[in-house]
Amino acid sequence: MTDIDWDHLRAVATEAMERAYAPYSRYRVGAAALVTDGRVVAGCNVENASYGVGLCAECALVGDLQMSGGGQLVAFVCVNNEGQTIMPCGRCRQLLYEFALPGMLLETVSGIRTIDEVLPDAFGPRDLEDAAR
Ligand code: THU
Repeated sequence: MTDIDWDHLRAVATEAMERAYAPYSRYRVGAAALVTDGRVVAGCNVENASYGVGLCAECALVGDLQMSGGGQLVAFVCVNNEGQTIMPCGRCRQLLYEFALPGMLLETVSGIRTIDEVLPDAFGPRDLEDAAR
């Protein structure tokens, strides 16, 4: 967990951002994450003429994760079209939480944070398992 190549992750996120489809907001976003097996997965935002159904970059990233073999996310970063690190929106923090290795790290606007710091007391798979018992 200590030797995460944040520069590489940011570079992959920036490449993903360049593929964004954001003709409506003109705000392109790219996301990248390191997976437990060493893979790096990525995604970009994909907007829609029906504005509300546009997809955040993180949606594409979790799709990439699942399609390329699954696993858990170890470290995550997302950037905007200026290459600035941005925070994943609230919904996307929840998307990431589903696949986060406990203690998953995010590069954020206020430094490196854990998933629990950016989504405290999260609702997750364990809540459903507890309820089913
Ligand atoms: N966006 C993302 O892709 N991820 C986020 O976490 C924040 C917002 C996108 C959605 C929309 O296409 C554009 O940024 C402007 O909100």
